Amino acid sequence: MGQIISVVSGKGGTGKTSFCAGVAVALCALGEKVLLIDADRGLRSLDIVLGMSDRVLFSWGDVLDGACSIKEAAVKHPIVKNLRLLTAPSISESDNYRREEIAALLERARPHFTWILIDCAAGFGHEVMDFALSSDRSIVVSTPDHSALRGAQRIGIQMAAGGVEQIHIAVNRLRLGMIGKGEAVNIDAAMDTSGLPLLGAIPEDKDVIACGNQGQVLVLFSTGYARVAYANIARRLRGTRLPLLQGVKLKK
Ligand SMILES: Nc1ncnc2c1ncn2[C@@H]1O[C@H](COP(=O)(O)OP(=O)(O)O)[C@@H](O)[C@H]1O
Ligand SMILES: [Mg+2]
Repeated sequence: MGQIISVVSGKGGTGKTSFCAGVAVALCALGEKVLLIDADRGLRSLDIVLGMSDRVLFSWGDVLDGACSIKEAAVKHPIVKNLRLLTAPSISESDNYRREEIAALLERARPHFTWILIDCAAGFGHEVMDFALSSDRSIVVSTPDHSALRGAQRIGIQMAAGGVEQIHIAVNRLRLGMIGKGEAVNIDAAMDTSGLPLLGAIPEDKDVIACGNQGQVLVLFSTGYARVAYANIARRLRGTRLPLLQGVKLKK
């Protein structure tokens, strides 16, 4: 039975979509079967980052409307074996789906995958809550700055109040030089401010931007450290204990 993880943030642009793509591919490389769900109806972009825009035909909205099955809507990645993407309906098709419907959709998908990662919109909108409060655990992605971390703290509180039992933070876009000069928050302070236990840290890495823009799989096209950090996180999710920045060097 698969584990369902919602990936959330208080503030926008913290790296949730890149995180979902990177960790999902890393999980597949470990032999896992992964479903990525784009739950960000306003700014859906997992299809772009994964180079799958011309492949997605149906969305999870179509599944809920009874227009197709999950199998038809969840398209296979062209290169990464065992990775499927279920994209979001656009906001203009704006039916409001009920939380029970979303929860039932996730439960229908669960037996077919070992991991289901949900790329949520930023903030506290009802659809974020509908997906996140239907998941088994949440990962809050934050950059190491006070405004993003305050958002992380607030969404962590909302998730806990809604009954999500396991909530972690992943700190993204770390730069050693900025931490050293006090221009960015260090990892301990990030945990203190957010009040959340740490799942992992991802360095600033231009390959994340380049691969995302070109729809290329980071693992295949990059030798950078973000790739290693996503792989570390995938291994931790599977229960392997690893030093925080194993194999990762932070740039100045
Ligand atoms: N570790 C990283 N290093 C460098 N750039 C990153 C990193 N993570 C994300 N980005 C970039 O930051 C921007 C926002 O990331 P994205 O994953 O779309 O965030 P969100 O889904 O939270 O809005 C994108 O341009 C992405 O390429
Ligand atoms: Mg996003």
